[in-house]
Amino acid sequence: MLQTLTIALSKGRIFKETLPLLRHAGIEPVDDPDTSRKLILSTNQPNIKLVIVRASDVPTYVQYGGADIGVAGKDVLLEHGGAELYEPLDLKIARCRLMTAAPTGLAREAYTQRLGKRLRVATKYVYTTRDYFAREGVQVEIIKLYGSMELAPLVGMADCIVDVVDTGNTLRANGLEPVDKIADISSRLIVNKAAMKMKHQAVKQLIDALAAAVQ
Ligand code: ATP
Ligand code: PRP
Repeated sequence: MLQTLTIALSKGRIFKETLPLLRHAGIEPVDDPDTSRKLILSTNQPNIKLVIVRASDVPTYVQYGGADIGVAGKDVLLEHGGAELYEPLDLKIARCRLMTAAPTGLAREAYTQRLGKRLRVATKYVYTTRDYFAREGVQVEIIKLYGSMELAPLVGMADCIVDVVDTGNTLRANGLEPVDKIADISSRLIVNKAAMKMKHQAVKQLIDALAAAVQ
């Protein structure tokens, strides 16, 4: 009897970049999430389904067993904390860096001017940011946003931001520059701890096939 597997993916970058790896492992989705309104997608493998969720919700679905396996950015995993998850494979896709960024030329000033005051940092990565600045010994006030973080310093709402950076084009277009790197980011395969035990054969087969695809 084939063990069923549910894989959580997010639309856009992660779906697009995971697709060739899945294909290499012999898994082809039947529907396209960009055109279908379905949240559960069948594949050519009768025992494998894909569920489409927000990128930041992938670890939560896998943690609570809504999916056995998922693909999530390391930025999202750092922020989630990794409870009830294994992270067996770096898929080496969606690579970028998690960085602090500040108005061009004003980075050090933005930092030092606030000595004695708390540095205001806009980000969607609240826990990671708090942890990073605590390790740096900098007192911060974190302003939680859900997107368009680059805007916050422009409108005087924050001194700097923490966000992912790839080419740096988004920062440049908004008069910001990267300052310090917090972490190198790529997407990871994550596995629910119970599924790793109960569905070991199917999970192991998929990890091995994806590991070969990454090579
Ligand atoms: P959510 O919908 O939960 O807010 P999101 O909009 O950040 O998530 P995506 O933009 O699809 O989702 O990003 C998914 C992942 O891809 C991120 O968690 C990050 O690891 C990586 N990523 C984000 N931006 C880039 C980029 N410009 N270049 C390369 N990888 C990126
Ligand atoms: C991501 C991220 C940054 C940008 C960085 O946004 O939020 O804004 O990429 O990439 P860059 O350094 O190459 O400019 P994305 O393009 O995914 O749009 P989003 O804000 O909708 O996630």
